Amino acid sequence: MELSAGILGTGSALPEKVLTNFDLEKMVETSDRWITERTGIRERRQAGPQDTTSTLSVKASRKALEMAGITPRDLDLIICSTISPDMPLPSTAALIQRDLGARSCCAFDLAAACSGFLFGMTVAEQFIRNGKCKHVLVIGAELLSRYVDYKDRETCVIFGDGMAAAVLGPVSPPSGILASDLHTEGQYADHLYIPAGGTASPASLETVASRGHYIKMRGNELFKVAVRNMEEVSRRVLEKAQVCANQVDLFIPHQANQRITEAVRERLGVAREKVYSNIDRIGNTSSASIPICLDECVRSGRLKRGDMILMAAFGAGVTWGAVLMRW
Ligand code: ACO
Repeated sequence: MELSAGILGTGSALPEKVLTNFDLEKMVETSDRWITERTGIRERRQAGPQDTTSTLSVKASRKALEMAGITPRDLDLIICSTISPDMPLPSTAALIQRDLGARSCCAFDLAAACSGFLFGMTVAEQFIRNGKCKHVLVIGAELLSRYVDYKDRETCVIFGDGMAAAVLGPVSPPSGILASDLHTEGQYADHLYIPAGGTASPASLETVASRGHYIKMRGNELFKVAVRNMEEVSRRVLEKAQVCANQVDLFIPHQANQRITEAVRERLGVAREKVYSNIDRIGNTSSASIPICLDECVRSGRLKRGDMILMAAFGAGVTWGAVLMRW
């Protein structure tokens, strides 16, 4: 029988410091009421100066490996999805591999912003199904507080820090990934970007003075692109797997904005109690948002063997994608 790729273990790690809407009220012209009503977010985590994307990722990865019942040396591939790496060079995946004590397996970063974990899962699935890898560690890790301008009220209220990991490996059908669908549309690249610090605008005193190293966002435009594409891509994976929306037991959307989640849920016709949301506590952690939700669902017993899970995301690029799997 043909093998599927499934999740063998999950883990997450959040920085200790909680940054509430009331803290933000003291930093920018905003209010707890505006943030809660417009985004659903009440608080988010913020890394301390000693934390890096890789150090917290190692903590999340160890938990995922423990749940999967394997050691770092059993890993064949590490994929770290991040847009907030420790440094431009080397990859954060290489640093994670070193600090985990994994053997010389392949490790690389993947940049697809908030859709990155689903991109990573889909890449891992190919390696597992074609027999090239047995155990793949997929990490969604973001330390966006280092890239957020705490003078820009539109972005600083949204983003939070967090990391989560999943060990993927061969499972027997009907468990495992049933369908996935990934997209990128570069014509919307300027909807969410960091202008400076790369080859287009290398770091200089001027780029620092003009705050060019911080995230710039066109929130309204992104909102519309997100709702439309998350709905469409979710329908596409359901169709591919010949599954109806009402057969989905758990819908985990990227935690971008509670109003985006609600709009997508309503358009898809998924019952409200089947949708997982932690945006009130965690905010938008980009590529970490879906795996953090997944880990919370696994550890709280919300996910049961045989459950049908739909995950959908969109992010900078813009990118979007969905994965349908049976637990
Ligand atoms: N506090 C108070 N007022 C604010 C704030 C704030 N934090 N931010 C914006 N406003 C003001 C605006 O200035 C505007 O004022 P005006 O009417 O006087 O001009 C008013 O509120 C309404 O602004 P809108 O932009 O229309 O507000 P909206 O309801 O669209 O909410 C938001 C803005 C939350 C950014 C929303 O558009 C959104 O969530 N968009 C999606 C963003 C997103 O998900 N980005 C992440 C992509 S994923 C990734 O890859 C990282």
